Amino acid sequence: MDWGMKNRMSQLFRNGRCLFLPIDHGYFQGPTSCLERPGETIAPLLPWCEALFVTRGVLRNCVVPAGSKPIILRVSGGASVIGQDLANEALTTSIEEIVRLNAAAVGVSIFVGSDYEHESLMNLADLVNDCEDFGIPVMAVTAVGKELEQREARYLALSSRIAAELGARVVKTYWCKNFDKVVEGCPVPVVMAGGPKCETEMEVLAFVHDGMKRGAVGVNLGRNIWQSPNPVPMIRALGAIIHEKASVKQALDLFQAVKADAGKARKKK
Ligand code: 5RP
Repeated sequence: MDWGMKNRMSQLFRNGRCLFLPIDHGYFQGPTSCLERPGETIAPLLPWCEALFVTRGVLRNCVVPAGSKPIILRVSGGASVIGQDLANEALTTSIEEIVRLNAAAVGVSIFVGSDYEHESLMNLADLVNDCEDFGIPVMAVTAVGKELEQREARYLALSSRIAAELGARVVKTYWCKNFDKVVEGCPVPVVMAGGPKCETEMEVLAFVHDGMKRGAVGVNLGRNIWQSPNPVPMIRALGAIIHEKASVKQALDLFQAVKADAGKARKKK
C-alpha cells in the first residue's frame, strides 16, 4: 500500500475502529427528517465521529472546510425514492472532483441480486480503477433498496465478499443475526450501517455491541443518531462501545449521564 493510501486509511480509523457519520440520505430521499439543514445537524456531533459520509453538494454548501473531519464522498446516485428502481445508480462524481474536494475516501452502493446488479458492480470496479491510481480508498455500500428483508447473513456475506473481491478497501453492510458469518467471509474491514430508526436506544446499542463483538470495525450510523431526540448522548454512547469496548449497560449509563448533563446545562441558561 502506498503512502497516500495508508495515510487516507489511517484518517478513517482510530486504533483500527471507526464511527462514520453519514448524512448522504438526501441523494435519493430528499430533505430527510432532522437533516433538512445538515450543517446544523452535524455541528454538535462532529467531535465524536471519525469521518463524515456526504455528497459533494452538501459538502460544498453545508460543511465548513477549515478543520473539517475526513470526508468520505458519496459518489453514486441517479435514482430516487419515487422513481422506478433505487438500484439504478451510476457514478456521479469524476476522479478530478474527488481529488479537488480532498476526499479521504469515496462511497458507492452495490445492489447484488437486483436488476442493476451488473451496473452497480461495474460502478464499484470502475471507481476502484480510478481511485487506486490516486491512493483513495473506496468504501462499498451493500445496499438493499426497499428490500429491507434482505438483511440476513447469507445475502450480506455474499454482497460483502463480492465488494471486497472487486477492490473495495472497506465494506459497509447491515448488521444481522450471525454477523460473524459476514465478517469471516470478507477480507477487508466491515462497518455496520444503521437502517431506519430503531424504537429504543437500547436496541441500537445492543446491535452495535453485538456486531463489534463479532468482528465489525465500527459503524456508519445516521438516522439512529441524528433522528434521536438525544443525538449527542447517542453518539457518545456508541463511541464508548466502539472505542472503549463498553458493555451495553455502560453505554446506556453514559447515554443517561450525558443527557442529564445537557438538561442541567439548558436549565442554567
Ligand atoms: C444511504 C447510506 C447511508 O449512509 C446509510 O444507510 C447509513 O445511514 P443510516 O444509519 O441512517 O441507515 O448509505 O444509502
